[in-house]
Amino acid sequence: MGEVEGKEGKEGTEGLEMVERSERSERSESSEGSEGSESSGSAEGMADGLADGAGHVAVPQGNGSPAGGRVVLVTGGASGIGAAVAGRLAARGDRVLVADIDARRGEAVAARTGALFLRTNVAELEDNEAAVEAAVAAFGRLDVVHLNAGITGGTSLGPDFDLDGYRKIVGINLDSVVFGIQAALPHVRRSGGRIVVTASAAALRPSIEVVYSATKSAVVALVRSLAPVLQRDGVTLNALCPGLVDTPLIAARRSSISAAGLPVASAEQVADAFETVLADERTGQAWLVMADRPVIPFPFPELPVPGAEKLIAKTIHGADMGAPSDMETP
Ligand SMILES: NC(=O)c1ccc[n+]([C@@H]2O[C@H](COP(=O)([O-])OP(=O)(O)OC[C@H]3O[C@@H](n4cnc5c(N)ncnc54)[C@H](O)[C@@H]3O)[C@@H](O)[C@H]2O)c1
Repeated sequence: MGEVEGKEGKEGTEGLEMVERSERSERSESSEGSEGSESSGSAEGMADGLADGAGHVAVPQGNGSPAGGRVVLVTGGASGIGAAVAGRLAARGDRVLVADIDARRGEAVAARTGALFLRTNVAELEDNEAAVEAAVAAFGRLDVVHLNAGITGGTSLGPDFDLDGYRKIVGINLDSVVFGIQAALPHVRRSGGRIVVTASAAALRPSIEVVYSATKSAVVALVRSLAPVLQRDGVTLNALCPGLVDTPLIAARRSSISAAGLPVASAEQVADAFETVLADERTGQAWLVMADRPVIPFPFPELPVPGAEKLIAKTIHGADMGAPSDMETP
């Protein structure tokens, strides 16, 4: 479960230990449109999930942007793409909670950006729930969720197949997205929020990282199938599909990638793409993010989807919308 160490000590929030950095107030004061007086980092004074600590009601303004800044949860925010997104949105005046298993780096990101940090293992459902509840307890609502934590490696198929490695990568890359959405749904339904998942271009083309590719493909399929249902609640759900990005994830392969002349984006470029997706009304898209081309929704061919909405509606809403046997295809 989540546990945070902070150099200024620990602050309990509904059984969680969480630290808010003093840099937040500096950032809030300098951010246009932000509430300078908002900085308590506790649920105290926040009513019904819609008012901030200063008693101001946060009114949604479109694009998931309530007055006083959006409330944002970023998993895997201690490094690479997640750290870039957390830093970018915090600088915009948003209130950010970084959830990551790496407490040392997570605290460093929090210190640099003014975000909150909560130690979180995204492969565990209860940790995802704790991260969501921590963000809501601190800031009163949840507007944007970036489910971004991920790893490569683990295993491949064949004689050296490693079951533990397989379970690990599926847990961190796929279970995390299912659990993260599941945990966030009640709150993003209330706010008409936005969920963005970091998948990969490896979901859209073959990859030597076959299990990694399978997890990312599953994430894209989940996004495409679930988004139409969430749209009814005003929630958007999209996937970012970056090609190579210059982060610790590819550090071991960096020189061979350079030698091959492959395009490599910066984490800041992916943060740009993240903002492009947040500003776009579309949902259920897999946004290709490559260093050498514009950010676009991947052009999947249009295929008929017989009865799929019924099946999804039954799964998500628990309503009896028809048995799966009604479906022409599963
Ligand atoms: N770097 C690339 O070339 C690239 C390309 C496509 C997609 N991606 C995806 O982008 C996402 C971010 O990766 P990155 O490149 O920034 O790598 P990164 O290694 O810099 O960051 C990944 C973060 O996830 C965290 N994490 C790992 N396991 C976790 C767990 N169990 N619980 C919580 N946090 C955990 C790590 O501590 C780290 O902070 C990943 O999902 C990755 O698959 C990366």
